[in-house]
Amino acid sequence: MTGKTRSRKITANSCKHVYSKITENLNRPSELKNMSLLLNTQVNSFVRSPLFYEILGAVTVLAVILLILWWKQRNLYSGLRSLPSPSGGHWFLGNAPQLLNSVKEKKFFQLLFDWAKELGPMYVYWIGSKPGVILSDPKLIESTIINGMRDGSLVRTQITRKAYNDIAGPILLGESGTEWQWRRKAWNPEFTPKVLPKHFDTIDRACFQIIETIKETASPIEVKADPLFVELTTRVISCLLFGIPVDKNRSTAEGPPLEIEKLYQAMSVLTYRILRVATGEKIWMKYLPIKSSQEYWEGRKYVETFLIPRVDLALQMRDNPNKNWEDICPLFKQSMLVKIAAKEPKYDRDSLIAESIEFLIAGTDTTAHSLSFALGELSLNQNVFQKARTIVDRTWETYGGITVESLKDLSYIRAIFKETLRLYSVSSGSTSLQAERDTIVGDQPIPRGTRIFWSTIAAGRDPSIYPNPEEFIPERWLGDDGENDRLIIMAFGSGSHRCLGENLAILEATVMLTMLLRYFDWELVNGRSSLENLQQNLLIYPVDRMPTKFTVRELARQTVNAK
Ligand code: HEM
Repeated sequence: MTGKTRSRKITANSCKHVYSKITENLNRPSELKNMSLLLNTQVNSFVRSPLFYEILGAVTVLAVILLILWWKQRNLYSGLRSLPSPSGGHWFLGNAPQLLNSVKEKKFFQLLFDWAKELGPMYVYWIGSKPGVILSDPKLIESTIINGMRDGSLVRTQITRKAYNDIAGPILLGESGTEWQWRRKAWNPEFTPKVLPKHFDTIDRACFQIIETIKETASPIEVKADPLFVELTTRVISCLLFGIPVDKNRSTAEGPPLEIEKLYQAMSVLTYRILRVATGEKIWMKYLPIKSSQEYWEGRKYVETFLIPRVDLALQMRDNPNKNWEDICPLFKQSMLVKIAAKEPKYDRDSLIAESIEFLIAGTDTTAHSLSFALGELSLNQNVFQKARTIVDRTWETYGGITVESLKDLSYIRAIFKETLRLYSVSSGSTSLQAERDTIVGDQPIPRGTRIFWSTIAAGRDPSIYPNPEEFIPERWLGDDGENDRLIIMAFGSGSHRCLGENLAILEATVMLTMLLRYFDWELVNGRSSLENLQQNLLIYPVDRMPTKFTVRELARQTVNAK
């Protein structure tokens, strides 16, 4: 036996021995004294053994390596230390505890916004010695995303890509390069301004259904507006994507029925997880036997059960184009799911499920919560409300209701929605970038590896671009002859990944707000606090879900009954 193995054996055996002696003699003080002497001897012999020096050496080498890495990283990013940085950070962990706490409290975007108010348009937070640069100058955000991604100096960070792709598989938001290109090429034609009027009737019916629901409970009964808008947007996207009729009384044969509340709950769990993973939670944590993992798997199972039969059917139709699918509902045959499956053979079962979940996330809460904020701002800004109402009544009377043709006269309503998106950018900083090489942002040198992020809520309040930023002024979005297209609208993102559903969202919101203005007066039950008390899963929403007292307008009573 060599000295090395002997000393190891001695140590392990003697520890076991000492432990059993201690437990045996716990109640005998004299024995305990002997035991402590024995323990002392064993410790001394271990400290003198070669194994002890081996361990000590390894620990020292590891500590030196970590120190060198830390020092190198500190030096690499030392130039960024000239930027303002949030106070109250931990000496070693930096701002990580503050950031993690904000995610836990569902106020991550709020924290970045609060820091922007205090520190200005470019600041840096530290996670240990790793920096994250936060921008809130609208022009700088746009040019950084567009130019940085074009010249390859900036790429979407692995951590956010992983967070998106972990929803159920690779998706548009999580992919880049050619993997993103073929996906986006397949979907783009479905969302152009030219194609969207085809969906006007669907949107019109879905909005009118909400009017009827409010009317059934109104005069003046309190209704939570936010869930109604979630219902609207979920019905619209489910109709366009999966061919599910918007009429809530019509059933669907291609898969389980659309249960809005259950779907919303499941999606909330999935989206909160995206935020957590994007801010550092490990992907494998979803396998831990804890409550949040259980909720995640239940949510995911619910959503997949809703989607799988529809995706499978779309793929069967792709594989058997000549079969007569006469039993299948025409709406499903015309759905985007069927079209995309047929058009892009690279899509298979898993990727279509993943992409469908992405559309349910991207195309529902975004528009719904923005509509809630628009409703709230209208109630609190009576001059805007009255001006909008006059325009709506005039347009209504000219066209006999809201029609595709009437949309051109409703630029003020679109301006109301854009002004809402400026103040309540629901996805305030959805994806971060990372410097692939040393680069410059504004005048600031940015070392390779730096993460760049932004706060579009803060950007929307930049007084040099939006004078009197705290005021709700839809007029700023209007030019001499209609819309002011030159004003930067940050809420839909920038660059190649800019929102695919921007035109759809604006169309839905225009029709919904126009109908609300035509049919109701309303006031917020909780006043401005509904617009101030916000949280986020991935997207920002009003915590109280915007309770509102609606009263049916006298002039609209007949029309509602007649429609
Ligand atoms: C007010 C409503 C909306 C807002 C504020 C919004 C916001 C955004 C933002 C900021 C991005 C860019 C994310 C990034 O760069 O990582 C985005 C992307 C996207 N949005 Fe929207 N969105 C809205 C409505 C919609 C709707 C109705 C759809 C439905 C089709 C949709 C589908 C998408 C998709 C598929 C992407 C990913 C595009 C890509 O990665 O190429 N969005 N959205």
